[in-house]
Amino acid sequence: MTTAGPDELVIRRPDDWHVHLRDGPMLALAADQTARQFARAIVMPNLVPPVTTMAAAGAYRDRILAALPPERDFTPLMTAYLTDTIDPDEVAEGFARGFFTACKLYPAGATTNSDAGVTDVAMIHPVLERMQAIGMPLLVHGEVVSEDVDVFDREAVFIERVLTPLLSDFPNLKVVLEHITTSDAVQFVESSSANLAATITAHHLHMDRNDLFRGGLRPHAYCLPVAKRREHKGALRRAATSGNPKFFLGTDTAPHPKADKEADCGCAGIFSAPVALESYVRVFEEEDALDRFEAFASEFGPAFYGLPLNGSRVLLRRTAMTVPDLITRQDEQVVPFHAGETLGWKFEGVL
Ligand code: DOR
Ligand code: ZN
Repeated sequence: MTTAGPDELVIRRPDDWHVHLRDGPMLALAADQTARQFARAIVMPNLVPPVTTMAAAGAYRDRILAALPPERDFTPLMTAYLTDTIDPDEVAEGFARGFFTACKLYPAGATTNSDAGVTDVAMIHPVLERMQAIGMPLLVHGEVVSEDVDVFDREAVFIERVLTPLLSDFPNLKVVLEHITTSDAVQFVESSSANLAATITAHHLHMDRNDLFRGGLRPHAYCLPVAKRREHKGALRRAATSGNPKFFLGTDTAPHPKADKEADCGCAGIFSAPVALESYVRVFEEEDALDRFEAFASEFGPAFYGLPLNGSRVLLRRTAMTVPDLITRQDEQVVPFHAGETLGWKFEGVL
């Protein structure tokens, strides 16, 4: 980290290890907001239909790159969506040939476009075996979907019922527990082997479950996994700012049209890409850990994935920055995270 002046922060350009860039009319808006700040991003495969083949991943990567303005310097890292019937040969060949960086496990029914997800981890044992053998990371949406489990307990129960046996069956598999929301997850990751890491979103560092009901029902605070009690937010803040390389940046930026959020059955997802670094850096400042921000944002992710660090740098300036109420592009309208709030930092660009 360099401080170019008392109110400037220069860090190695970060990557985002968990994004939803969407497709169709939303893609250009979503991709550009991520590519503005981040050099690389792990792109989630929960399209309709899901990305399960090299051909689909290659075509999606081409659409992402085609949607970006030419001045952007951005590398999408593609993922394969695990289904009960996915072909292990396709996954392994896709990894070897650079089509896939990782595989994503969505328990069926857990979240947006997860209907084609895995019904029982036993169904994907053959593909997990191959991934373990070739060093291909498994990215996990860690929630059980069961009527007997309260929505606020889904992550903790997943760790107990699904993740613990999975890690013992595949001790050499590299696993990222995505968008963790509980102190249970923090402790589990801390006490597991170096093969298990976790991403932490900016919104889970700012919000607890009370924010869903602050003065009324707040659809733009709704995401999955849903925010938990205040003590869990505290545990996430401590983990993110601890300097432990098992915890790194993944925004889970997940834009939905404004009308789909402000609806009778509103979609889960928070669009944090437009203010991602500003949002995270504020947490590190509040926790008196600005000197640990660069490692969390720009070093621990590449180290876990075995990828090189980025060469360029970005500048953040300490200044009042009011977040727009709406981000628009052609007919798309999305409400960003922190809409209408004034943050204390502004992303000034890539140096
Ligand atoms: O809030 C979320 N939105 N969580 C997810 O797991 C998926 C995402 C989406 O795709 O909208
Ligand atoms: Zn996600």
